[in-house]
Amino acid sequence: MNVSRNGNRDNRPRNGGAPLRDRYGRLLALSLGSAAVFAVLFYLRGRELMPHSAGRWGELFPFVGAVSLTLAVTLFLTEWFGFAGREVRKVRLAARDFLFLCSLALLLFFAAKAVIDLLAETPTFRGAVPTRVCAYLIPLPAFAIVVRTLLNSETAILFTVAASVLSAAAVSGRWSAMLFLLLCGTAGAARARRIPDRYRMLRVGLQTAPVCAFGAVALELAFYGGGNLLWAGIFGAVNGAISGPIALAVLPVAEYVFGYTSDIRLMELASTSHPLLSRLMLETPGTFHHSVIVGTLAEAGALAIGANPVLCRVAALYHDVGKIGKAQYFSENQAGLGNVHDTLTPGLSRTVILSHVKEGARMARECRLGDRIAEIIEQHHGTSLLYCFLDKAIPLIRDRKASEEMFRYPGPRPKTREAAIIMLADSAEAAVRSLRNPTAREIDDAVTGIINRAYLDGQLNDCDLTLRDLHAVGRAIQQVLSAVGHSRVDYPASGKGEAGGIR
Ligand SMILES: [Fe+2]
Ligand SMILES: [Fe+2]
Repeated sequence: MNVSRNGNRDNRPRNGGAPLRDRYGRLLALSLGSAAVFAVLFYLRGRELMPHSAGRWGELFPFVGAVSLTLAVTLFLTEWFGFAGREVRKVRLAARDFLFLCSLALLLFFAAKAVIDLLAETPTFRGAVPTRVCAYLIPLPAFAIVVRTLLNSETAILFTVAASVLSAAAVSGRWSAMLFLLLCGTAGAARARRIPDRYRMLRVGLQTAPVCAFGAVALELAFYGGGNLLWAGIFGAVNGAISGPIALAVLPVAEYVFGYTSDIRLMELASTSHPLLSRLMLETPGTFHHSVIVGTLAEAGALAIGANPVLCRVAALYHDVGKIGKAQYFSENQAGLGNVHDTLTPGLSRTVILSHVKEGARMARECRLGDRIAEIIEQHHGTSLLYCFLDKAIPLIRDRKASEEMFRYPGPRPKTREAAIIMLADSAEAAVRSLRNPTAREIDDAVTGIINRAYLDGQLNDCDLTLRDLHAVGRAIQQVLSAVGHSRVDYPASGKGEAGGIR
């Protein structure tokens, strides 16, 4: 977007070597574990799926067939999501996302097989309802809702297509089943835009049910005539209706295993009963108050450009948790006390202030706040300069005992719109707080100055904010700050006003 003065900072590792190794180690273990689980599942079910190969390979099938089928399916998913990830801007999947989607697609495949086998053995349906009709119960809408809730709409569409093809294999690849799965998966994902609570999730399922029911009836009529229309409609409706509860059951597991944070989880994290937030409130009340205002500003900024307002508000609440335990070193907690930095060297002050970013990200990961919040904490100052101590350090820089680069935050720079909005809201709140009884014009100038400085310093180079977005975010922040920061009308002292005060 603009010329970066600090572009060379991109290559620095985002974490220390050890945490990065730990993360990849966990991912590798998870990948191998998943592959082993699916090889075992194919081992148990392989003969039913590939009866011909059993004859050809004889007793070798359980070993060779299970592993080769796992490889073939994984290869298909790798090509599918890999291609999309390279070519579709919003589908840049990390290794974790890829593993999550592959596991979900394969799980759905076995869930489809289990549902059909279970119904075939139920006395009510045995012989009365053909296997192909049972395919209308394959729970793809629930899985598509989970993908959209945890990732994004583009990925949910890609997942729906891949999972439809795979799951249709459970009913011998019938066209009616594949078309139904494409339809109901898309319908579920389309209705799962923002889901901040459980009731909304259940409502999404209920809204999907009629589409699934009509789709099932129409496809049954088109492909096989009118023999099983009632069952097709009932199965389709049930499939849609239970997608909400199934998604609610899958979400916490996916969040725990893969480190995702859904909007429902974010709403839970917004409660001050969370141990980390209550520590922030009690031990660093000034920082807590600052975080609440940053959250309000960031939420307004996100709403102005269609970013995620819940993520902005909640991540802003936690963005400075790294200050816990060092409250006195940060100006918002120094009310009535002297400035402790007056007695410290600029180098020591710098070390304490910069450490709150890494410490905050560490605490967020330790408390399992999810990667989205931990990454925003890491990015909320980008690689910007620590302006308040730079002036004090100028003699040291002149004597070559320090450099300007030493007074930059470790970064990385904001990589998402939400992280960038929080960076701007954070700086704007701090800048306006330092003004004494600011007018609306002064607030506007301060916010504009903050945005211009971040832009010219290259801090917004790695995120998807357009100039139009920046303008809209700035205007939203200005409006909220003007409303919050306007000068109050002085209350008359009790009993001394014209009306004698309020009694
Ligand atoms: Fe901070
Ligand atoms: Fe802050």
